[in-house]
Amino acid sequence: MRFVTRFVLGAAFVTTLVQCRPERHWEHDLTRVSLDIPAHVTSYVGVELEEPTRAQVELGRHLFHDPLLSADGTVSCASCHLQANGFSDPRPFSEGVGGGVGDRNAMAIVNLAFDESFFWDGRRNSLVGQAHDPVVHPLEMAETWTSVEGKLRESGTYPQMFFEAFGNLDLDSNQVTRAIAAFETTLLSFDAPYDAFFYEGAMGVLDSSALRGFDLFFGEAECVHCHAGPLLTDQTLKSNGLDGTVTDPGLGAVSGLDSDLGKFKVPTLRNIAQTAPYMHDGRFSTLLEVVEHYNSGVDFLAPNLDPDMHIYAEGLNLTEQEKLDLVAFMESFSDEVFLTNPAFSAPQ
Ligand code: HEC
Ligand code: HEC
Repeated sequence: MRFVTRFVLGAAFVTTLVQCRPERHWEHDLTRVSLDIPAHVTSYVGVELEEPTRAQVELGRHLFHDPLLSADGTVSCASCHLQANGFSDPRPFSEGVGGGVGDRNAMAIVNLAFDESFFWDGRRNSLVGQAHDPVVHPLEMAETWTSVEGKLRESGTYPQMFFEAFGNLDLDSNQVTRAIAAFETTLLSFDAPYDAFFYEGAMGVLDSSALRGFDLFFGEAECVHCHAGPLLTDQTLKSNGLDGTVTDPGLGAVSGLDSDLGKFKVPTLRNIAQTAPYMHDGRFSTLLEVVEHYNSGVDFLAPNLDPDMHIYAEGLNLTEQEKLDLVAFMESFSDEVFLTNPAFSAPQ
């Protein structure tokens, strides 16, 4: 019996060695990708992003689109973060392995490399840390890291990609999440009609309705207090007065502070016309409903309501045309190149 065990263990050890030995022609590829970030963005956010290597980005793209990361091989990151929807989910609540359903709307993945808090409640502080969670979340990919690592090691193509990306065959969760974060770093969107108009002074890209919406957004409707700068978010967590009674504690559950109850990440408005439904629980299905919230629906009993929300205390009293104008302006945040860029799509 003892001999058999020893033999089996020995054989397993030899197989592992054989599997993990890099082929002679594999090389650690240190070529970096050019991120092409407009200078006004860099100066506004004050952060210079480190350019990831081409091999890490390519590996991350494969992993992001690969259902191998889930327990039953049916769910990938891209199942809930769809490119055509600005890498968000058109369903209010996404379906994970076995039809499990969460209670928050899947967020858009865009320009996130500049952020310091992730998830609606800000519970993670890096993209690498974030990418760890969906894999083991019981309602999302419901997998274990040991199992993912095993599947990747046994696959025909991944060992070489990991070697090219990291120069070794550790092939562990740390490398998986680093590669996914590298891919996400390339998901940049600064090429919408809004950018051409606002940052390049291009005429004729916004129609008259969108131009009136622009005036409202920066003026009377004061959206720019929170949806600010080229990221269209001030990257904080705040309450915009959705509920008088807290149903989801948001940041409060993370910090343990009553003063944070009901606060959520101020989301970017990049590609917002494609990322319906809206808010952390996907309660609004159209941008017009969102505008109506700010126009007349803010709940002033909401705990920790942001001071900047008191501008809506009297109601905005927007006309029907002005509401449509705000929507038309928000539609100018859609970046067609980003939404269809084959470099972000599932590898063929
Ligand atoms: C079953 C659906 C589902 C799957 C699969 C999934 N996500 Fe998500 N994702 C969500 C939901 C829902 C949220 C918001 C959850 C919350 O705030 O509590 C989210 C949030 C995020 C965020 C935070 C964005 C921000 O602005 O803070 C990132 C980044 C992200 N997901 C990346 C990934 C990656 C990478 C994978 C694969 C490893 C993945 N997701 C798999 C549903 C999913
Ligand atoms: C005090 C800060 C603040 C102001 C001012 C503000 N917002 Fe928001 N906005 C938020 C927060 C916070 C959320 C997310 C709330 C949540 O889901 O719990 C949000 C969510 C949104 C969303 C949904 C985004 C998504 O991905 O689901 C849209 C669209 C939006 N706001 C548009 C506007 C418009 C238009 C105005 C001006 C009329 C405006 N906001 C003013 C803080 C603000």
